[in-house]
Amino acid sequence: MITIDGQTKICGLLGYPVKHTLSPMIHEILAHHTGENLAYIPCETDPSHLADAVKGAQAMHFLGLNVTVPHKSAIIPFLSSIDPLAGKVGAVNTLVPEEDGFRGYNTDLTGLGRAMRYDGVSIPKEKTVLIGAGGAARAAAFLLAENGVTEAYIINRTLESATKLCDNINTTYGRTVFKPLLLSQYDRLPGDGYLAVQATSVGLFPDNEKAPIMDEAFYQKCSVGYDLIYRPFETRFMRFFREQGKPSFNGLRMLIFQGIEAYEKWTGKPVSDDVVPEVIEALERHA
Ligand code: ATR
Repeated sequence: MITIDGQTKICGLLGYPVKHTLSPMIHEILAHHTGENLAYIPCETDPSHLADAVKGAQAMHFLGLNVTVPHKSAIIPFLSSIDPLAGKVGAVNTLVPEEDGFRGYNTDLTGLGRAMRYDGVSIPKEKTVLIGAGGAARAAAFLLAENGVTEAYIINRTLESATKLCDNINTTYGRTVFKPLLLSQYDRLPGDGYLAVQATSVGLFPDNEKAPIMDEAFYQKCSVGYDLIYRPFETRFMRFFREQGKPSFNGLRMLIFQGIEAYEKWTGKPVSDDVVPEVIEALERHA
């Protein structure tokens, strides 16, 4: 339990809404673990007040901020600088104070990479399929591109958004990273042994029995599944893998590591992976 006193440093989350956030719980454990006197406050911010909120946080010397839906791109014009990788993605979720404002980072991307390493999932160069082309898929797509993926696939219900994301990434990296495919055309994926990253909202609580692809033939093409959803802890997508005796993972470690990466930037203190099981347990207990 945090004891707030005159020395307590403030961190916060700018979003709209913020009621369901698990980040205060994550940061409380991290603060306890590293011996920081820090409070993490959800700050519900109407889009029309976003610029004022950033200025206010600067005026009140916030140690750092997270940013969530719908502000991840809209906040960029109000920052004093942006990390080059976050600039490529066009979205930030972490603000770190600097002399004349805040610098924006994308720890969704780096957090996903760290979560996959923690889970022992390596990213293959060619046999990767990313399902979805929205905001969460975008961060995952850039992570995959940063990890040297070539000739992988983005499959989505709306072909136009998949094509747009592929074009954007292929242009940014000056090579073919992704090819677009309609979700219903999963049978066109050549060969098997794919890492499948699930980045749509399908299967999110309370739609626990839904997966973007409900055909076991797709899962036969895959060797490992990574779902960015963490509520429920086992999604229908993950269950397809389990039923075929294959490993799959939920988005809980991505959530935790985006928080850890933000926390490390704010405090300058490295966080050991040893704390992760404790955070998982607390989040699971809370659910
Ligand atoms: P997020 O920020 O969670 O990524 P988003 O940007 O709204 O949310 O993206 C949602 C993703 O889930 C998109 O890829 C969307 O597909 P479309 O581009 O076709 O909209 C996908 N999605 C949402 N509902 C879906 C459904 N019922 N079937 C298949 N895909 C769905």
